[in-house]
Amino acid sequence: MPRILLVVQDKGGVGKSLATRALAEAVFEAPVIEVDASRRLLELEKRVTFFPMRADRAAIDLSGGKAARAEFDGVITAMQKATMPTIVDVGANTSTSLLSVLNQLTNALVAMKIEIGVLVLVTAEPGALAEAPRLMQLAKPLAAARFLIENRLHGEVEAKAIAKIADGATVTTLDHHSMEDQAVAVLQAGGLATIPDLDIAKLIDRHGLALGSRVHGDLKRLRADAMAAVLPAAEWLVG
Ligand SMILES: Nc1ncnc2c1ncn2[C@@H]1O[C@H](COP(=O)(O)OP(=O)(O)O)[C@@H](O)[C@H]1O
Ligand SMILES: [Mg+2]
Repeated sequence: MPRILLVVQDKGGVGKSLATRALAEAVFEAPVIEVDASRRLLELEKRVTFFPMRADRAAIDLSGGKAARAEFDGVITAMQKATMPTIVDVGANTSTSLLSVLNQLTNALVAMKIEIGVLVLVTAEPGALAEAPRLMQLAKPLAAARFLIENRLHGEVEAKAIAKIADGATVTTLDHHSMEDQAVAVLQAGGLATIPDLDIAKLIDRHGLALGSRVHGDLKRLRADAMAAVLPAAEWLVG
């Protein structure tokens, strides 16, 4: 059975979707499962299967917890049906619940020969720092391989703290990329997928020589760095 890599962190805005996009670039044609409140990985089009979260609170209460338990059934079925290495972008506030549900299924996952990897994102934000070690521990009985990306979006985390969170997982870092607004706009419109084909002459036409080449450089660097940060996880996924 193919390997499945879950990209997790309950805190939003830490780079889960960026890491997913980088993995999608690194692992040619790998299908992507997106678990989120709304679709974001639009540029990946048909590669993505989207599962909306969460079952609304009223429905969960009315069902006495049944709706909450069933919330991930579709996602888990999609994982079971995977025939290729698959990337799962787990949206904000969902990672702990999904990993907990999967922990109850370890026997079934073993029986089905489904191999799970977990990639945790952490930033210097208190919320992300608090969640990361818990997620790493939840992943431990479940995952054949664990990875941690320190995303320096909000500054560096002390090396000691990272080592403690990682608990033996493979650690990489992603520097904060301060980009031109025009580069951010390209990124928002097309993710990382359109960057290799960017025409520098067109960017220079549009923004002038200086800004156009900065926009080009910003995007190329972000894509290369994001792909470097996910490389160990990408190698495990196809390995
Ligand atoms: N290291 C970084 N440097 C610059 N921008 C980043 C970096 N990491 C993430 N971003 C940007 O921050 C925003 C939030 O990241 P995203 O991947 O959507 O987070 P999440 O999926 O965890 O909510 C996106 O616009 C993303 O491109
Ligand atoms: Mg996201």
